[in-house]
Amino acid sequence: MSPWERARDELRHRVPRAVPKVGLVLGSGLGDVVERFEARVDVPYGEIPHFPASTVEGHAGQLVFGRWSGQDVVAMRGRVHLYEGYSASEVVFPIRVMLALGAKVLIVTNAAGGIDPHFATGDLMLISDHLNLTGTNPLVGPNDPAWGPRFPDVTHAYDPKLREIARAASKALKLPLHEGVYAGLLGPSYETPAEIRMLRTMGAAAVGMSTVLEVIAAAHAGARILGISCISNPAAGLTDAPLDHEEVQEAAYAAREHLGALVEALVSQVGE
Ligand code: HPA
Repeated sequence: MSPWERARDELRHRVPRAVPKVGLVLGSGLGDVVERFEARVDVPYGEIPHFPASTVEGHAGQLVFGRWSGQDVVAMRGRVHLYEGYSASEVVFPIRVMLALGAKVLIVTNAAGGIDPHFATGDLMLISDHLNLTGTNPLVGPNDPAWGPRFPDVTHAYDPKLREIARAASKALKLPLHEGVYAGLLGPSYETPAEIRMLRTMGAAAVGMSTVLEVIAAAHAGARILGISCISNPAAGLTDAPLDHEEVQEAAYAAREHLGALVEALVSQVGE
C-alpha cells in the first residue's frame, strides 16, 4: 500500500464522514475559518500516517473535516513549505490525500506580499496564474499515471469558471477582489527590492512562499483549483516598513472575515 493510501484509509477509519467534495488550504493567519464548520472533526497532522508536520509558528497543523455551506469539506489548517526542509513531494502529500478522499475542487489560500502598487494590506487577490520560481516541481521523479500524465497541461490550472464564480461572489458581497499572477519563491528570506522589481517586470502582482507546488500537484490530478491571496504587506522596497512575519500573520488574521465570507459563498457553489 502506498503512503497516501495508508493516510487516506486511516482518515476514513477515524472520521465518520470523510467524503469531502471540496478541499481547502488555509494559509498563515487564515486557519480560524474552520470555526464556521458544522460537525467538525480535527485530526492533528502528527496522527496521520506519513503526514509532514508544520514547523512554522502560526501554522497549526490539523486536517479539519466538516460541513460548510451545505458541502462536505476538508481543510488543511496550516501547510508545510519547502523552506522548512521538506521535499516538493512531501509538501504536496496532504493535497494528494485530500484528493484521494474524493475532493474534486481545491481552494488554496495564502498570505502574500503585494507587488502591484495599487494593492493595500488586507486586500484579496484572485490568482489568475502563477510563476513557479521555487526551482523544483512536485512531479519530479517517476510519474504515477494513476494520478495524471507525465507532462500535464497547466494552462487552465486556475479554473476560469471558478474564477468567474469568485468574481460574482465578491460582487454580491461587495468585497473588492483584485486578480493577478502569484509568484511562488523558495524563501525563507523575504525578497530583495531588486527581486521585487524583477518579479514586477515578469508580470507578478503578488509574491509568497507557498501554493505553486500544491497547485501543480492538484492540476496534475485533474482537480479544479481556485487560489486566493490575502495581501498581508507591501512587497520589499515598496515602502520603508521592515518585513516582519508577525505583522504578516496579523494582517492576514485581520482579513480572515472577508476571506471567510468569500470562501463560504464559493464553497456553496463550486462543489456541484
Ligand atoms: N514575500 C514572500 N512571502 C510572503 C510575503 C512577502 O512579502 N508576505 C507574505 N508572504
